[in-house]
Amino acid sequence: MSHLAIFSLLFIFLFNFSLATNTIYNVQNYGAKSNGQTDSSNAFLSAWKAACASTSPATIYMPRGNYLIRSAEFNGETCKSKAIIIRIDGTLLAPSDYNVIGNEGSWIKFEKANGVSIFGGTFDGQGASLWSCKTSGKNCPKGTTALAFYNSNNVVISGVTAQNSQMFHILVDGCHNVKLQGVKVSSPGNSPNTDGIHIQSSSGVSIMNSRIGTGDDCISIGPGNSNLWIEGIACGPGHGISIGSLGWESQEQGVQNVTVKTVTFTGTENGVRVKTWARPSSSFVRAVLFQHIVMANVQNPIIIDQNYCPNHESCPNQGSGVKISDVTYQDIHGTSSTEVAVKLNCSKTNPCTGITLDDVNLSYKDGRADASCVNAGGRASGFEELSHCL
Ligand SMILES: *[C@@H]1O[C@H](CO)[C@@H](O)[C@H](O)[C@H]1NC(C)=O
Ligand SMILES: *[C@@H]1O[C@H](CO)[C@@H](O)[C@H](O)[C@H]1NC(C)=O
Ligand SMILES: *[C@@H]1O[C@H](CO)[C@@H](O)[C@H](O)[C@H]1NC(C)=O
Repeated sequence: MSHLAIFSLLFIFLFNFSLATNTIYNVQNYGAKSNGQTDSSNAFLSAWKAACASTSPATIYMPRGNYLIRSAEFNGETCKSKAIIIRIDGTLLAPSDYNVIGNEGSWIKFEKANGVSIFGGTFDGQGASLWSCKTSGKNCPKGTTALAFYNSNNVVISGVTAQNSQMFHILVDGCHNVKLQGVKVSSPGNSPNTDGIHIQSSSGVSIMNSRIGTGDDCISIGPGNSNLWIEGIACGPGHGISIGSLGWESQEQGVQNVTVKTVTFTGTENGVRVKTWARPSSSFVRAVLFQHIVMANVQNPIIIDQNYCPNHESCPNQGSGVKISDVTYQDIHGTSSTEVAVKLNCSKTNPCTGITLDDVNLSYKDGRADASCVNAGGRASGFEELSHCL
């Protein structure tokens, strides 16, 4: 056989092989229109259905352009394919009229979608009209989360942009082994309730190399999380990275083994925060490491607030039942925009234990910032004001 023949055979073999192992389902072939006007929800769902029925890995592809998606639930419960890739070059637009989906909970929802990866794409929640409704104090819908994953394992979200969500931008709930990397969240600093990434009841989630600017928490960590890794984040504007609010329920899963490292907070309301309701609860926070963090003009760089009780309703004079232990702050530098940069305000009924402040050096104006500790035990190295605090 000539080389050419061998090459051709090889080519045919490889071509068929790749077709057999990874079929591409282009949403435009299912009727999606890139004009930003035609509702493409059903086209996207039909492509999902086809990919899902594939017995081998499958790729759903969305070319460049704007696609109006009313709302869509991608349910993977009966999928044959164990690995669905969603590759997006375009922008998904939510309806700009908030009444259309404002009470639906989530806009783009994945449920029991194991082995799904999303690469690229912009998810635009078009939340501006809902934000102004909320800000004006009118009676408005709660708003939807832009991109939500429920009860899904082995998920990758890479190079995705989520912007202008009505409420949370990305939600991970009840999931195991989820990798978010190179994610960008972008909403105005005054947009209400627009948390960047909210995680709850999940384990083995990592958030790497991402930029988050929004009107609420950059990352919020709800009850029931373990083995969470957050690294290489730029946060701001926003309310920082927050564990909590925890302890609203009397029976609640705690949070353990959380690493937050190499993060820069710029002009945020908080840096790293733990926040619990002042109510009895079985919940806990333990084994948390905040490391290599730069604060640039942050209002509350380090804060534990166990007395959370807005308007003193539903928790008058109660201590928080949430037990906080083994929390380390290490190599935290930069500037505070308020005099007290370290505020550890722990529960009167369940004081914090095992707090470590190691190489924490925060300044306010021309001097070192102050620290205040209530019901907090542990040790500090370095500066006198921190050693006296604990
Ligand atoms: C803590 O979580 C990390 C992943 O974030 C994991 O690699 C490590 O094994 C966990 N440690 C324990 C003690 O479970
Ligand atoms: C701690 O919280 C209590 C209750 O909200 C508040 O009265 C007190 O001022 C706080 N202490 C500090 C040092 O922030
Ligand atoms: C603490 O930070 C200030 C301001 O950045 C710096 O001048 C000082 O050298 C630092 N101190 C130590 C011990 O690192």
